[in-house]
This record gives sequence, C-alpha cells and structure tokens, in this order.
Amino acid sequence: MKTEAAPFRLEDYRAPAFTIDTVGLDFQLAPSATRVVATIALRPNTDEARNGRLELVGDEIVLKGLKLDGATLPESRYTATPTLLTLHDAPNRPFTLEIETLVDPAANTKLMGLYRTSGTYCTQCEAEGFRRITYFLDRPDVLAVYTTRIEAEKSDAPILLANGNPVESGDVPGTDRHFAVWHDPFPKPSYLFAMVAGDLGVITDSFTTSSGREVELRIYCEHGKEARCTYAMDALKRSMKWDEDVFGLEYDLDIFIIVAVSDFNMGAMENKGLNVFNDKYVLADPDTATDADYANVEGVIAHEYFHNWTGNRITCRDWFQLCLKEGLTVFRDQEFSSDMRSRAVKRIADVRTLQARQFPEDGGPLAHPVRPEIYHEISNFYTPTVYEKGAEVVRMLKSILGPDDFRNGMDLYVERHDGDAATIEDFLASFADATGADLTQFKLWYSQAGTPQIIARGAYDEADRTYRLTLSQSIPATPGQSDKQPMHMPIRFGLIGPNGEDMEFASVSGGRVEGDIIHLTEASQTLVFEGVGGRPVPSLLRGFSAPVRLAIDISAADLLFQVRTDADPFNRWQAAQTLAMRNLVASTTEQIAGRPAKAEPALIDALGSVLDDETLEPAFRAQVLQLPSEADIARELGQNVDPDAIAAARRELRLAISTGLGNRIERHYGSLSGAESFRPDAASAGKRALRNTLLDLLLARRSPEAIAAALAHFETANNMTDRLAALSAITQAALPERRAVLDAFHKRYQDDALVLDKWLTLEATVPASDTLDRVKALLKHPSYSPNNPNRVRALVGSFASANQTQFNRVDGAGYDFLADFALELDKRNPQTTARLLVSFRSWRALEPVRRARAEAALRRIAAAPDLSPDTLDIVTRTLA
Ligand code: BES
Ligand code: ZN
Repeated sequence: MKTEAAPFRLEDYRAPAFTIDTVGLDFQLAPSATRVVATIALRPNTDEARNGRLELVGDEIVLKGLKLDGATLPESRYTATPTLLTLHDAPNRPFTLEIETLVDPAANTKLMGLYRTSGTYCTQCEAEGFRRITYFLDRPDVLAVYTTRIEAEKSDAPILLANGNPVESGDVPGTDRHFAVWHDPFPKPSYLFAMVAGDLGVITDSFTTSSGREVELRIYCEHGKEARCTYAMDALKRSMKWDEDVFGLEYDLDIFIIVAVSDFNMGAMENKGLNVFNDKYVLADPDTATDADYANVEGVIAHEYFHNWTGNRITCRDWFQLCLKEGLTVFRDQEFSSDMRSRAVKRIADVRTLQARQFPEDGGPLAHPVRPEIYHEISNFYTPTVYEKGAEVVRMLKSILGPDDFRNGMDLYVERHDGDAATIEDFLASFADATGADLTQFKLWYSQAGTPQIIARGAYDEADRTYRLTLSQSIPATPGQSDKQPMHMPIRFGLIGPNGEDMEFASVSGGRVEGDIIHLTEASQTLVFEGVGGRPVPSLLRGFSAPVRLAIDISAADLLFQVRTDADPFNRWQAAQTLAMRNLVASTTEQIAGRPAKAEPALIDALGSVLDDETLEPAFRAQVLQLPSEADIARELGQNVDPDAIAAARRELRLAISTGLGNRIERHYGSLSGAESFRPDAASAGKRALRNTLLDLLLARRSPEAIAAALAHFETANNMTDRLAALSAITQAALPERRAVLDAFHKRYQDDALVLDKWLTLEATVPASDTLDRVKALLKHPSYSPNNPNRVRALVGSFASANQTQFNRVDGAGYDFLADFALELDKRNPQTTARLLVSFRSWRALEPVRRARAEAALRRIAAAPDLSPDTLDIVTRTLA
C-alpha cells in the first residue's frame, strides 16, 4: 500500500520566484530518442529568488546537458533528479538556461508530454505534461513567448507544426531531414504548448475576421479521412463568427490549426493556434457518425476555439481556478450550440448530463466545490463539477444580472485581464464593477460543494386572491464541509393560470422578484403574490435556472396540466419526467415486493398528449418520451439501491407505457420516413430522434411485429443514426436476435475504429448475465487495442458506467473485473485508469451485499503496492 504525497492547497498560493520571458524549443525528432533543447530566459521575480535557489520541475526527465548563459554548468552547481532540477546559486539578474533532454515518445503510454499516435509525434501538456519534455516552471501563472524549431526525417514527418505563426522552414543540407520554425507572439503558460509532426492529410479553408484579417484554417487527419473533416471545418467557421457576434471576440493569429489524433486521453485540447483533438470529435460523415456525434463535433470544436479568449488570452493563475476557463467555456459552447440548434432541446440535454454526471459526484465521496481548495492530483479535477456545475454558475450569473449587464461584465473582464493569469475573484470583480451588483453571497457557489435542495410549498387564498409561495433551501454536508450558508439562487418562474397561460399579479412581497426571476437568498422565504386571478400551478426553476434539486408538493393532475400548458418547454419536459420518476420509484418498490409495475394514467396521458402534439418539435417530443435512466432512478432512491429491481421496474413500466399508448406509436413511427437522404441539421436530426425513440418504445413489447420492425429499421437505414438506433434497441432489449445484427455491424465496419467503438459499447451494455464474459473475451479481440483510450472507454468504461445491472452484479464479479483491469491499466495509463474508477463513486448507496463487494474491490486496489498517484487519489477519496 502506498501513501499519498502532501496535497496542494489554494491558500498556499505564492507568486513564482522566477519568471520566464521567452522559451526556445528545439526538437530533434526520433521515435525512441528525441532530443529537446530548451533555451529559457529567466528573471528573478520575488525576494525568495534572491537567495539564489531555482527549482524547475520534471517528470521522468533524462538530462543530457545544462548550460547557464551559454557555458556548461559544473555538476556542483545543480542537482538533477527525474522530477526536479535545482540550481543552488542562480544569478540575481536575468539569465538563460539551456536544458538538453532525451525523450522516448514511442514508449510514452501515459499520453502526457511527447508521444506517438499512429506514427505521428504529438504533445499533450495540460495540466502537467510539459514537465515530461523539459524541466520548467510548469505552472499556469508563468507566461512566456515561445519559438519552436522542429527537425525530423522528411519521410517520417513531412508535416511539422507548433503554436503560433510559421516563420521559417527548409531542408537540412546533406541529410534527409527538414525543419520548421514557429513563433507564437502571445505569452502563454506551458500547458498550452503543442507540437505535432507526422505524415498527415489536410483540408484547408479561410476566415475573414470582423476587422478584416484573413486567417488560414487547416484540419489535419489521417490520410484518407479528409472528407470526414468538412463538418468540423464548417463548425469552426461558425464558431469564429459566433464569438465575434455574441462576445465581440476575434481570432488573433494568422493561422488556426486542428489536428485529429487517434490516441488521446481527453476529448480535445485548446493549445494556442494548434488544437489537438481526439479524432472522434473531428471526423463525421453520414455513414459513420450519428446525429449525436455531429452535435458533439460542433460543440467540442466550438469549446476549444472559444478557449482562445477564455483560457488562452486570459488564463488561470493556478489550477484551483480551473473553472475560470472550463466552466466559462462550457457555458459558451452550450450557448453556441443553443443558437445553432433548438435551445429547449439543448437545455434538456445539458441538464440530463448535469444530473447524470454532476449530481452523483456532488452527492458522493468525490464531492468538491466548483473551485476546489485542495487537491493531490490535478488531473482528477477535470470533473463534472468544475465543468458542468461551473457552467451553471456562469449561467446563473447571467440570469441574475440580465443579458446586457452580463455582456458588460464579460467585456470588462476581457479588457482588464487580457494577458493575465486570473482568478475567480478577478472574474467576479469585473461583473460587480461593471454593473454595481453585490456578488458576495453569489460567490458561495464557488466554495460550497453539494447539490442544494429547495423545498417549495404554495397556497392560494381565493378570497384574498393571494398566492403564498414558501421556498426553503438547504445544502447537504459534503467531505470536509458540514456547515453551509444560504446561497443566492435565481429561480425563474411563472404562475400558470386555469386557462394554461401565465397569470399577471398586482404585487409581490417577501423577497426580491425581478421580471420572471425570484432572487432566493435566505434559508427560507415566503413570497406573497397579490392580485392573482385564480389558483395557479407554479412553474418553478424554468429552464433549470439553478443547479438544485427541487421538491414540490404538486399533484399528478397539476403535473399533467403543466406538461400540456407550461410556456417554458424545459418545464414541460421536467413535469413529464417528474411524473415518470414518481411512477418509476413506486414501481421499484412494487418490484421488490414482487408485484408488477403499472403505468399511472396521468403519465400515459402526458406522454400521449406530447406525442400527438404536432406543434411541438420532434426532437422535444423524443426527449419527453425518454424515461429517466436506471442510474437516474438509483440516484432518486439514494440508498439501498438494487439495480436489478430498478431495471425490472423500468422495463415493465416501459412495456405498460408502450401498451398504453397503443397503436399511436406505430402510427407516428410510420408517418416519419426513414428514407430521406441524410442531412445533419437539427430539424432532420429531431425527426430521426423521434422515430428512433418510438422504435425503442415499440420494442419494449418484444412482439414479433416489433422485432421485425427493428430488424427492418436496421437493414434499411441509410445513415449511422438510424442503423445504430435499431441495433441499440435490439441489444438493450437483450433479444436473442442481437448476436446476428452485432456481427453484421462488426463485419461492415471492421476497418473503422471509431465505429467499432460503438460496437464495443453495445456489446458491453447488453443487460444480460453473459455480458461480463463477453467483455472479457473482447479484451482479446483484434478490434480491441489495450493502449488506445477510446477503445478502453468504449468497452470497459461503458460496461462500468452504463451497464447498471451487469457492473453491479450481486456476486461482485463486475467490481472484481474492473479492479483487475484497473490494476493492469494503471501501469500504462494512470489518467485513463483513474477516470474509469469513478464508476465506483456511488458505492455507498448500494444495498448491503453489493456495497460490501464494491468496497472489497476498492480496498484491493488501494492496497496495491505501486499505484499511480492518480489512481491512489481517486480510490482513497472514494473510500474515505
Ligand atoms: N482543456 C481541456 C482538455 C484537457 C482536459 C486537458 C483535462 C487536460 C486535462 C479541454 O478544453 C476540454 O475541456 N476538453 C473536454 C471537452 C470539452 C468539449 C468539454 C474534454 O477533453 O473532455
Ligand atoms: Zn475546456
């Protein structure tokens, strides 16, 4: 068993002892022995520096040479270990260090620092990968101007790329090597450094900025996949335009490059001028990508592009401030996608993700504030809380200030902090100063972990025409935080009148209400609305205006009314989900007592009325028809979770709904054609979504007709969305027919790794008792590759995170498998391992037998002798 190193604390922040003005990097590329010469211009920055001690961090560094101001440094003047270079008597004046290191990209399976992916050299430096290339002040508040020279064999790497603008290139005389020099004039932290070299295909385009500058755009990918990059290029140009139109932010270099690589730990990375992407977020065509893939490509391209301002031009002072760039940039990419597609449907999708990923984190052992105050391993803090809750906090800020003042605050933030390494305090001060708002209480959203609960109670007095609404907030205890203060929450609302329209009221007292926003600031507040013409149905938290759990005593009849009438589409969806969730929770209890599930008439009525309402967009109707997931139900139950009972209850309820809706399903399914040629726009995607949701609901009956329809749907599909939807419906129903269709799908796409990931995921998520054995067998399948994170996540990640019954097998075999797998993978790729283990985060909510087995598996991992710091951190906190 290993013990952890000392943690990092926000309160311990100190300015760097030295600053770095310029960095020159010279790469002599070779697959197993790349030489890097880093020429770093340093300058003492604080009194601490004047005592002459300089410490540069490294990670597995092999030092080959060290010069100070051009002269080789005697060994007596420094100490070098793989993780630290110490100069005992650094000069008390500006000076230059020349550090020569030797790197083995081919052996780098961690995919941090400089590594190889399908024969291409590639770097990933965020958060702490640059120190695997050279010793450095590898922290985000050290901003330098970089010049990068790359030299490689022409045949091995005809393409040589780095940050900034290209300045020089040519052949190296007398050799078969060539070189390129890139210069990035914008000072940046080391985590934004990137270098790519290889034999790649490319598509090019250009964009003229609002001030008339021409920017060259390039997307690089594997040869032969160029045609699959066109949607990404289109999304990039739309992103550039949108950031100018909506935020007034213009691109700043002469060239913007995206490179798609197949081995990547994360989704994508915003390196200045040279974004590196997991190829699944670049490549898309109708035959291989689903509508969801297209939407993801669009959103991720936008996200990384938007970082050019919120992340790069204004970066983070330290990693505790990660949400400063990530939460804000997720908010920006969500807004972009809302403008490109349907705002209501995008909001529902984002809230679903928030509730599926962030709520369980916030309610479990890994809970932490949006701005953490302590960490062991920063790579484990790229979390749903920092990202998604971080985005919700920015959205609340906009709701509280209103759109115009929000924009004023953003403008001031950019004006004040361009070129800075900033903090959350800087961010909030910009909004406070631009608008005069007091954000002191609001700031608690950054420091208090846990999902707040709001309890709402309303009463209408007919005689007085008065509606009294009491809202109480509380925040559950989370690790290290027991006492919490009330927070400032914007509650967007409406009072729905008997005719289905929002009612006016004469006045309101008991709290600040501005337009359709209630500012909830106290632990409990009673708002008294006067002059209300009839008994209202309260529509609270419209658009999910705050990331909270709302408990409200409202009848099924009122929910049904809300589904039919609410002016806010999000709350129409929410009301249907609430009805469904109540029914699912009741059915789970019935299941445990051995009684069959039955669908409540109000639920059938609600779903049916939305299904039949042709004035609603199809994508929205599809969302309403999708029941809460098994994991959603488990979270709602919160304790003593039996995944088998939940799955059975959900399956039976789906059958009851399918039967209850009767031939309306077939009728609507039949009226939506699958024969149109594929277009990726939101409206076309929405029709496919509704048709595919209906197929899935039809198949809940498992009737011969339904099975025949699913098989035909699969056979006749002219695009991946429809093909995969049929396949998924068949596998999720665990029908015996699944084997043949899975094999056919594999055969058709056997040379396409990204499509095979879909196949691996389908195999891993079949809710059947032989799935674990199948997953184990697939680990040896030629289509699987143990060092590629996409393959690992598709097979093992999906099994652990998306197959509730089989991962949570009562015999504990699912947990044991994940533990064995993690111990093996941890030796090669700690970051990916740590992320897989997050699937254990809700182990305490399980019923006692499973809980004991999950704990045993976790303890076995924790006891392993050579655990990586990443995995040790996750396992330790999960068990705490
Ligand atoms: N800066 C991150 C990439 C990153 C994450 C690097 C973690 C190092 C560690 C990038 O901007 C990002 O957030 N990527 C997301 C996708 C995005 C659309 C939310 C990712 O990689 O998952
Ligand atoms: Zn990001």
